[in-house]
Amino acid sequence: MADDETLIEAARRARENALASFSQFKVGAALETADGQIITGCNIENATYGLTLCAERVAMFKALSEGHLRFTRIAIVANTDQPTPPCGACRQILWEFGGDLEVVLANLTEITGQHRLKDLLPLPFDARLL
Ligand code: THU
Repeated sequence: MADDETLIEAARRARENALASFSQFKVGAALETADGQIITGCNIENATYGLTLCAERVAMFKALSEGHLRFTRIAIVANTDQPTPPCGACRQILWEFGGDLEVVLANLTEITGQHRLKDLLPLPFDARLL
């Protein structure tokens, strides 16, 4: 398993690839698989705005598309003093495919928050309810 700093550094590097020309708000994410691999993502905006993909979902969809199915942690990095927690859509996708992940929030220099996903998404809707 990577330590927190290794995972956060991967998210910081991924953030540099963010395509955020509309919001200027660059985000990087690094998802750790159960066997210790790190899959990264960054936010990708486009001219319609509404089709924007957050860094977290890019990382998760990349990971799933490469055959990874079990995950332990995600680091999320933005250049802000306040923590940047995942949006509602990302919480849902992370929960359905990653379960109760440890969520490490950081900026360019330090950790700004640490949570379990079940605390960020209480009373989730998921496949168990179908
Ligand atoms: N964004 C993320 O990528 N992840 C978050 O956790 C919060 C928001 C992106 C979406 C959009 O490109 C920009 O940040 C501003 O909302």
